[in-house]
Amino acid sequence: MKEVTLTVDGKEITVPAGTLLIDACEANGIYIPRFCYHKHLFPSGNCRMCLVMIEKNPKPQPSCMTPVVEGMAVHTNTPEVAEIRKAILEFVLINHPLDCPICDKAGECMLQDQYMEFSGDKSRFNETKVAKEKLYHFGRKIIYDAERCITCSRCVRITEEVSKTNKLGIVERGDRSYVALAHGDTLDDDPYAYCVVDNCPVGALTAKYFRFKERVWYLHKTPSVCAGCSRGCNIWIETKDNKIYRVRPRENDAVNKSWMCDFGREYYILPPKNRASGAKINHYAVDYNKFVSEVAALLKEHAAETAFVASAYATNEELALAKQLVSHLGIKGIFHKKDRVWQESSGEVKEDDILIKQDKTPNMAGVKKTFPEAKDIEDMVISDFKYAFVWGPGAPLEKIDGLNLIVLSAMADQIWEKAKYNLAGRISSEKHGSFTNFNGIVQNFRRAIKGDNNYDELTFFIDVLKEVGADPIGRTVDEIQNAK
Ligand code: SF4
Ligand code: SF4
Ligand code: FES
Repeated sequence: MKEVTLTVDGKEITVPAGTLLIDACEANGIYIPRFCYHKHLFPSGNCRMCLVMIEKNPKPQPSCMTPVVEGMAVHTNTPEVAEIRKAILEFVLINHPLDCPICDKAGECMLQDQYMEFSGDKSRFNETKVAKEKLYHFGRKIIYDAERCITCSRCVRITEEVSKTNKLGIVERGDRSYVALAHGDTLDDDPYAYCVVDNCPVGALTAKYFRFKERVWYLHKTPSVCAGCSRGCNIWIETKDNKIYRVRPRENDAVNKSWMCDFGREYYILPPKNRASGAKINHYAVDYNKFVSEVAALLKEHAAETAFVASAYATNEELALAKQLVSHLGIKGIFHKKDRVWQESSGEVKEDDILIKQDKTPNMAGVKKTFPEAKDIEDMVISDFKYAFVWGPGAPLEKIDGLNLIVLSAMADQIWEKAKYNLAGRISSEKHGSFTNFNGIVQNFRRAIKGDNNYDELTFFIDVLKEVGADPIGRTVDEIQNAK
């Protein structure tokens, strides 16, 4: 690739030809302030916060609209640039309300941060600010506050370039301008609507599910991977006191850039109601250790007549231990299933060419890699078995009805109700591990919250392995990953 050499603040840097100046600076440790620029959107150059001086150029230039040129000499920290930044901030703040104490964006607001870093001046504006509507409902998910909006157009470009619904536009002119939907329209049927909230540089767009719920500086951010489909979007799960308050995309250019779908977000925010709980034998609660020893003895004795049905919600590390167990016991009937399938009536998108995948489970690739010999449960011959170890939800009842069922699942579905042995497992926000996404990328995630009256599958397989006389390949996620 052709490269270009330029100087920024006297330092020589070399970047690929075509790189925007704002990115070239950032890649070399010089952060240029910005509002409208976003690395995954087409630049619009409307806020002017990123102005820099370029030698032989009489006027300041927007670094987000300027590609690097060989020999260019750029200045980003002169007194003139500092004055420009102060002036832009003063201009943006003329009509901006003093909402910080009640604004959900406070603590992570680009306007707050950049004012503190590049201005700090008192307002000279004694006139009356332009008052605008503060409560536009953009549907069931999002509220728009026109007074806080700095008309950077990021949200408009997200609906144009990411979700491609073209739902938002900027209407009116100058200090009267604001973001609007077509009359009567909402963002409800935009599958990526919450992305406009994530990327609004100020608090003009707020998510109804999070609005006024918690101050962002109290939230603990855990890196995770969405389990809503096989894309495996990288996410932050934001929690306080063992409760999920907010879910946002975690940037990963190879998987989801800066985006995630609304279904994935609501998958965590509105957790499923039919959670399984406890350890049970014949529908009676039992001690976990008793459960482990009875299931281990049963699997050992009946390995030849047991079907093992793997879960596409399981982590790679749990699958590795399960593989060790079935190999140790000599279980030959190994199957996979679709733990969750798209339903016509669900309102969820089946698949698109943006992020959403048709496979609605996070780790079918991991199942198939760990158990290449596994057959689809639809091909199971029930008469070959007397027992079935069913892991995760979604197994077709007609394929296994009549077998003695051992069910390990986070969800209490109809198979759970039919089982003789039940152990409640955990969902991905409650455990550490990794998933392999649809195109083979292995991604680690961390536990964000503690499970309630349920059991860690990793520990369960370790305990069963020990009970049947095997030495587990590892006792932690790290040990298992290093053992593989
Ligand atoms: S609502 Fe936010 S993202 Fe949209 S134009 Fe206004 S400030 Fe920019
Ligand atoms: S596209 Fe799939 S992985 Fe990404 S957020 Fe949506 S459901 Fe989750
Ligand atoms: S960031 Fe360059 S003009 Fe807005």
